[in-house]
Amino acid sequence: MATLQDRLGRSMQDLRISVTDRCNFRCVYCMPKEVFGPSFAFLPRRELLTFEEIARVAKIFAELGVRKIRLTGGEPLVRKDIDTLVQELASIPGIDDLAMTTNGSLLTAERAQKLRSAGLKRVTVSLDSLDDAKFRALNDVGFPVARVLEAIHNAAQAGLTPVKVNMVVKRGANDEDILVMAEHFRGTGHILRFIEYMDVGTANGWRLDDVVQNSKILEQINARWPLEPVAPARPSDVARRFRYTDGAGEIGLIASVSQPFCRDCSRARLSPDGQLFLCLFAQKGYDLRHWLRSGASDDEIEEVVRHIWSGRDVRYSEVRSEKTSGMPKVEMFRIGG
Ligand code: GTP
Ligand code: 5AD
Ligand code: SF4
Ligand code: SF4
Repeated sequence: MATLQDRLGRSMQDLRISVTDRCNFRCVYCMPKEVFGPSFAFLPRRELLTFEEIARVAKIFAELGVRKIRLTGGEPLVRKDIDTLVQELASIPGIDDLAMTTNGSLLTAERAQKLRSAGLKRVTVSLDSLDDAKFRALNDVGFPVARVLEAIHNAAQAGLTPVKVNMVVKRGANDEDILVMAEHFRGTGHILRFIEYMDVGTANGWRLDDVVQNSKILEQINARWPLEPVAPARPSDVARRFRYTDGAGEIGLIASVSQPFCRDCSRARLSPDGQLFLCLFAQKGYDLRHWLRSGASDDEIEEVVRHIWSGRDVRYSEVRSEKTSGMPKVEMFRIGG
């Protein structure tokens, strides 16, 4: 059968699965406390896809060409026994990359080892600053830097490598920490990535002025430790890669605002309640859970997904404007970035 392509000729190669909308952090740029307080209604358990249902969807997507799966949240590690799911996903034929994006708060040495044994290949840990006071304020639950550094260490020890470290740069919040972060991770084998703050969802009060352009970050680091570009591993990857010319390793720049990468976007997203989203900035999802729970066969669901992907023409970041950034959009913690 011909490979599945959307209306812009993009194939479906990656599946980002958000396993929960809950998170134990309240990062100011993602789940601001004022909006996501104690009375906020997260999804009740029955609304969540079970591990069996997630694995079934993943299998169907693998049939359609998906090769890479990333588990996200919310915080994926708040979901109990997630290694059971990892094990199921790792055994799906065709899936050759299985990764997780986590805030690291629950990534103990034991948990990292368990995930590795279950078949997880690598993790990406979010860390926005090495300054403890600033980091505690950014995650807004007072979580200390030291414990995230421990998580990164645990991941590396368990062989979940290369460990990537995500730093969302927000002007005035942590843009003074760029060089300190670069210095800290140079020579460790971990790949630090600088992410432009995005207008995902509507809760974070995003303003273009808060974005620090990746080109400025590149200039800043390059002036201190010269860098050279590295070819992308895959055309659809979100990060542009650079390596230190002195051999101290690699960094990534994710310029989703200043240099959008929709042209090669091969990512499908599954929300915890089984909705399929065709873009991080989507206004609506497609209810796959309905099909999963109404007795449809795998072939029928495959056909539904084929139909949905064939009609895809989203390229939000390329058409972003003042008008679009204020539109109602799905929140990041529901589809995991
Ligand atoms: P790798 O496979 O290691 O390259 O992972 P990744 O960079 O795709 O995943 P990660 O979860 O670390 O995401 C890094 C940043 O890129 C986060 O801020 C994501 O929200 C953002 N991102 C990931 N995919 C997309 C996308 O399709 N569009 C946009 N605009 N941003 C994305
Ligand atoms: N802009 C850019 N990146 C974001 N993330 C969360 N919210 C935003 C935002 N508004 C990052 C997280 C995590 C990744 C999945 O997305 O820090 O590393
Ligand atoms: Fe949680 Fe990640 Fe959102 Fe922070 S960015 S609140 S760690 S889901
Ligand atoms: Fe893909 Fe949408 Fe991100 Fe563009 S904005 S790269 S279409 S997810």
